[in-house]
Amino acid sequence: MGKKILLEHINVPGINTLEVYRKMGGYESVRKAVNEMTPDAIVEEVKKSGLRGRGGAGFPTGMKWSFLDKSTDKPRYLVCNADESEPGTFKDRYLMQRIPHALIEGMITSSYALGARTSYIYVRGEMMPVIRILEKAIKEAYAAGLLGKNILGSSYSLDLYVQPGGGAYICGEETALLESLEGKRGNPRNKPPFPAVWGLYGCPTVVNNVETIADIPWIVNHGGDAYAAIGVGKSTGTKLISACGNINKPGVYEIELGITVEDFIYSDEYCGGIANGRELKAVVAGGSSVPILPKNLILTTANNEKRLMTYESLSDGGFATGTMLGSGGFIVFDEQQCIVRNLWNFSRFYHHESCGQCSPCREGTGWMEKVLHRIEYGHGKMEDIDLLVSIAKNIEGKTICPLGEAAAWPVASAIRHFRAEFEAHVQNPDSCCKKHLHRELVHSH
Ligand SMILES: Cc1cc2nc3c(=O)[nH]c(=O)nc-3n(C[C@H](O)[C@H](O)[C@H](O)COP(=O)(O)O)c2cc1C
Repeated sequence: MGKKILLEHINVPGINTLEVYRKMGGYESVRKAVNEMTPDAIVEEVKKSGLRGRGGAGFPTGMKWSFLDKSTDKPRYLVCNADESEPGTFKDRYLMQRIPHALIEGMITSSYALGARTSYIYVRGEMMPVIRILEKAIKEAYAAGLLGKNILGSSYSLDLYVQPGGGAYICGEETALLESLEGKRGNPRNKPPFPAVWGLYGCPTVVNNVETIADIPWIVNHGGDAYAAIGVGKSTGTKLISACGNINKPGVYEIELGITVEDFIYSDEYCGGIANGRELKAVVAGGSSVPILPKNLILTTANNEKRLMTYESLSDGGFATGTMLGSGGFIVFDEQQCIVRNLWNFSRFYHHESCGQCSPCREGTGWMEKVLHRIEYGHGKMEDIDLLVSIAKNIEGKTICPLGEAAAWPVASAIRHFRAEFEAHVQNPDSCCKKHLHRELVHSH
């Protein structure tokens, strides 16, 4: 069994309550932080830990924290990004639902380190049960003196609020999230200035993912070096992976960064192999936004080395032969899945979720969806395949926020690795699309 930091006590009865959570050692990091450590000392430990943001981009957390503008006497804010709307990613919801105090403890310790006196957890609006669970847990923490004035008798005070999200994927982009939290439409901001300088209400702000924040208590309790000793190279610690698709054991797993992809897919400790005895066809390793890889490339790198579940190994070879760890949304496709249909499905999502501010994304996502629809439904032309590549290229790098890339990369990679499948759809539409049409007709009756 690999090392567990976040899910060690997941199956302890009552772990969602403050009483049981504290019995298992919970909130020790708050006691230690406010009584024994300076805020800067915590930032140093986080830097040493090598922890990288678990929201998708993998930016070093300690470095992000040290960018927080301390030259002003404006308030500072910590905002937790719990919007989690990326298709294939459901790890944050699981953690908040099962061990809400893990996030609240992390919020208190991290807010202390950053000098924040008011902090927010911005939760995807559709996740009402999670919002209620968090609110209940926060109430318990206030009653126990872990939140509010003079936490555990110290001079440090913090108020923590849960904010239901605006109901759009774009609200997970950190600056759109801040706009939404301020009560406006969730449109991404132009950067710079970055939130560390101009964040919530124009004040210095750190935005971190749920998992990132929940990792902080362990780092404070055990030290940054102990965290850095887990994992491989610059991929330190553990990572929550939400695994879904055609596998025997879908679910949320905590892995030590550095296990092989093969182990993750086939071992009984994790996915338990491909369902129904079928063959693996492809994997989207880090949520719907990252490039899809066929079996040979997800299991081994272009240099014929076993691919590891690390930031570096998954991206080895760049986009020619690699992908990204992203948010850890691991979607597995068996040999019977249609890549064109799946891609059309993703494209529908990105078209629907584009905020519409930038023309390349607003127009391009809709255009890609339309072209994919006609290929999937048997009306495609050969030149449509290169048209898709060209539209994707014209979105990439030309938008305010990375939703453009999130929509373009899956298209570009699916055509790079599965062009023959797109061609087959054009040349012989009956082979695949008619089957789907039939299935849809059956389901709709
Ligand atoms: C369209 C879009 C949606 C995003 N959704 C989320 C999300 O739901 N949760 C999240 O933590 N990060 C999301 N991100 C990334 C955030 O902008 C940001 O990088 C992250 O919250 C930073 O936290 P971290 O450093 O702890 O990873 C999204 C980014 C984009 C472009």
